[in-house]
Amino acid sequence: DWNSGNVIAEQVARIRAQVGTGKVICGLSGGVDSAVAAALVHKAIGDQLVCVFVDHGLLRQDERRQVEEDFVLATGVRLVTVDVREQFLTALEGVSDPETKRKIIGREFIRTFEQAQAELITEAAAIDGDPIRFLVQGTLYPDVVESGGGSGTANIKSHHNVGGLPDDLQFELIEPLRTLFKDEVRAIGAELGLPAEIVQRQPFPGPGLGIRIVGSITQDRLDLLRHADAIVRAELTAAGLDREIWQCPVVLLADVRSVGVQGDGRTYGHPIVLRPVSSEDAMTADWTRLPYDLLAKISNRITNEVDGVNRVVLDVTSKPPGTIEWE
Ligand code: XMP
Repeated sequence: DWNSGNVIAEQVARIRAQVGTGKVICGLSGGVDSAVAAALVHKAIGDQLVCVFVDHGLLRQDERRQVEEDFVLATGVRLVTVDVREQFLTALEGVSDPETKRKIIGREFIRTFEQAQAELITEAAAIDGDPIRFLVQGTLYPDVVESGGGSGTANIKSHHNVGGLPDDLQFELIEPLRTLFKDEVRAIGAELGLPAEIVQRQPFPGPGLGIRIVGSITQDRLDLLRHADAIVRAELTAAGLDREIWQCPVVLLADVRSVGVQGDGRTYGHPIVLRPVSSEDAMTADWTRLPYDLLAKISNRITNEVDGVNRVVLDVTSKPPGTIEWE
């Protein structure tokens, strides 16, 4: 029978056998897969592991804190945060084409991770002559199957993950989740004592809020979207709907403005789009029929609390024809 305790014990033994006294690096994204993979490896080999977290400024509210404080507290993992928010803003300045954004974000991400990696390798080698030889990846069973098969939508958007690293890296991979499904990974994460915000987190794209601003990316727009997104997530959680919906992208139409009225003044602000979807695997999806009262509450809060937004609209498109993300 499947039992998270058994899987943990088995993987811990396997990781110890693979790694011996070697040193290991792992990129954390804030998501469940990399967090659980890192926690397993840490349980097996402790401080032979170092984790790297890239703050590219496209994260949601609280995500960096969850990794730096909650995850570190729960696991004791040694963590290095690389703050490249300025670098990403500069690289993305004036870019509004979705694929160009994705390529820039992917490129900058890999560059950042490789640089951090190179520094850590040099540092590790200076201690006892032994560089970092292993890289942890949170590959799940469906990822293994998918990369073998090739899915029909693979070329619609250039996806990138924390795991999407170049092939010429001189690492031996550790993939402790390779035989597991998402539910099983969550069960193991819970068993390992990881915070619920991480273990139950819904899918969030690697390019983050960068592909949820329709238009070019600026600091102000990111802050505005982060605020609206935090309100939506808080209200969905309060309504007990986190498990019912697959995910709910919140999108800022930065190039669109419409006329509104607030207090006794005219406004000319941006719309926020809510994109709640139900899905099994993100290949197809239906828009979620959220309760009207909840929609009303979210709409009121966003227009009252988020400066510059005077309209909230609901995306009622299934996938296909609409993708889940807007870019
Ligand atoms: P679409 O928009 O293609 O999204 O219907 C399908 C699922 O994939 C997520 N997504 C990404 N995940 N890197 C990721 O790790 C990406 O570049 C990326 N783009 C989309 C999206 O949130 C949805 O769950």
